[in-house]
Amino acid sequence: MISKDTINEIFETARIEEVIGEFVNLKRRGVNYLGLCPFHNEKTPSFTVSPAKNIYKCFGCGKAGNVVNFLMEHEHYTYVEALKYLAKKYNIEIEETEQTPEQRQVLDEKEVLYNISRFAQKHFTDNLFNTEQGKAIALTYFKERDFDINTIKKFQLGYCLKEWDDFTKAALKNAYKIETLIKSGFTINKNGKYYDRFRERVMFPIHSMSGRIVGFGGRILTSDKTKPKYVNTPESEIYHKSNVLYGIYFAKNAIRNKDNCYLVEGYTDVISLYQAGIENVVASSGTSLTNEQIRAIKRFTQNITILYDGDTAGIKASFRGINMILEQGMNVKIVLFPEGEDPDSFTRKNKNNPDNVVNFINDNSLDFIKFKTNLLLKDTKNDPIKKASLIKDIVNTISVIPDEITRSIYVKECAVLLDIQEKVLYDEIFRILKNNYYKKKKISDNAAVRLKKEKSSVDESKVYKTTDIYLHEREIIRLLLNYGKEKIYFRERTKYGVKTTTYFTADYIVRDLRENEIEFQDAVCKAIYDEYVSANENEIIPNTDYFINHNDKDIQKLSIDLLSEAYELSDNWKKKHRIYVDTELNKLKDIVLNTMLAFKSQKLKIMINEIEKKIKDIEKEETLKSTEKEEKLNILMQQLKLIQDKYSEINSGLGRVII
Ligand code: UTP
Ligand code: MN
Repeated sequence: MISKDTINEIFETARIEEVIGEFVNLKRRGVNYLGLCPFHNEKTPSFTVSPAKNIYKCFGCGKAGNVVNFLMEHEHYTYVEALKYLAKKYNIEIEETEQTPEQRQVLDEKEVLYNISRFAQKHFTDNLFNTEQGKAIALTYFKERDFDINTIKKFQLGYCLKEWDDFTKAALKNAYKIETLIKSGFTINKNGKYYDRFRERVMFPIHSMSGRIVGFGGRILTSDKTKPKYVNTPESEIYHKSNVLYGIYFAKNAIRNKDNCYLVEGYTDVISLYQAGIENVVASSGTSLTNEQIRAIKRFTQNITILYDGDTAGIKASFRGINMILEQGMNVKIVLFPEGEDPDSFTRKNKNNPDNVVNFINDNSLDFIKFKTNLLLKDTKNDPIKKASLIKDIVNTISVIPDEITRSIYVKECAVLLDIQEKVLYDEIFRILKNNYYKKKKISDNAAVRLKKEKSSVDESKVYKTTDIYLHEREIIRLLLNYGKEKIYFRERTKYGVKTTTYFTADYIVRDLRENEIEFQDAVCKAIYDEYVSANENEIIPNTDYFINHNDKDIQKLSIDLLSEAYELSDNWKKKHRIYVDTELNKLKDIVLNTMLAFKSQKLKIMINEIEKKIKDIEKEETLKSTEKEEKLNILMQQLKLIQDKYSEINSGLGRVII
């Protein structure tokens, strides 16, 4: 039991931004901190931590709570464990009571698994340093591999004795149940005979993000080809192979500081690089990279450098990993090690000159375009078919990148490197994006059709959408999406000469509509417009990708439709298309101003009609006292006058030629 006073002290001392900052990369935003939500997959940060209120809240998925809730949710700690974690972090003294076997029974299943993993690690480390067999075989092995004592201790390496059931016996003696031993994977039951899964193997404990042991990898010490080189913990409630990143606990601070993460294949690669001073390194441990693993890295950096063995057979299969990283909006570089070397062996070869390793990595980091080009175009430089398929491959990869600007940088590079026009690449990218969209759309359309059947017969939204006002709202959104980042210039004659003011189209539209307090009616147009308004408050203009990839299917559909409207023309009118776009760009200011004037005029007209109707209604009203009536009418008349003035001001501007 922890006393109330201690609990209070913990809550008073713990700083929520520091605690959460251990798990999520937080950036200061005014009085709050902002980061990518660890509870759902997102591309733009909506996870907010407020040190003043001592809470976190994700505006994307709605998860919220205090510092202890966070640890319980994120690390699956119990309440008491979360408190203990904080007490340890802030050096607050806490009364520790030893667990009796009865108490242990009460712990839930996961806790027992964490508990036995910790027990196992201690046992295996003890074997390594304090048994004859461990010292003679395992410790010697590690030393031969140039792991020094500090490294062995840091990574909590160990050894499972060459006995049938040394560990099983030790665990049973410590009141762990045989079912737990089997469930956690340490013990195998063969026809009622129990034996150790990891016997005669050196042990690599695998830590969670917060340093708890969730599983082990055990390496064989001989070169017996009939047995697997590594045996790993089987899937359990605490060990999910696809979530695990070996080394993340030791690497996370360095990853954040260096703003880059090296990704390797094996346990020994992590350990050797770490020992050589390259601490921002994790391993996918022999599995092909998963989205969960990438997301774990993304909490600390946007940048991943993959270090491949020189002779990795499945290197082309690993292209999928590259796409997955790019798809999450992250940057990826690739380093290919010399033939026959992995990061571990290369580091050991250079152990007297660790700078060589860093230099080699820096000198050989390639972006995915150069990497693929080098690899695939090696001896087929002049084969047009091979070249075409390489370009297709690269364009496919570029098209998964969510950010438009990043994409355009790669398009440029690809165009130069493979000697092909950018326009051709863009056309192909757009075709892919569109296909992907319609593929997705088909699925959601089917769902929509089903939904509609369940609804009543009249589709009101359709009737409404044919009205002018919807077309106008749509046109404003089209201008925002297509030309939001283009500039428009206003020239004004003053007594000092001609003054030029520059606006981004998006800024101009948003300001103008806000000044006139104009709201959108259509829900989808409004949602997109509102994004521009809030971006405007932060002095940015949203990327169109944000809308194209939006979770909301309607937003996605409308933005893609509006962005591809000009493009549709190009399919049929290839040459005209360019002219069309050019003229629209050249006349952008006129188009924006006239559209805005027409839109405002129409909006104001609607407002005028509404007020006039209200006035009529009040005049007809018989129950009202005449003074009351007059008062209400007065207010409405004033409103009407204001809007009418605005209306005529705007209409005098319609059609006027603006310089
Ligand atoms: P490697 O065969 O490249 O091993 O497998 P390694 O890490 O270089 O080990 P050493 O240097 O020979 O001692 C890479 C990773 O794949 C997983 C392990 O995580 C290993 O670190 N693996 C490999 C297995 O899980 N089982 C195996 O049988 C082999
Ligand atoms: Mn190796």
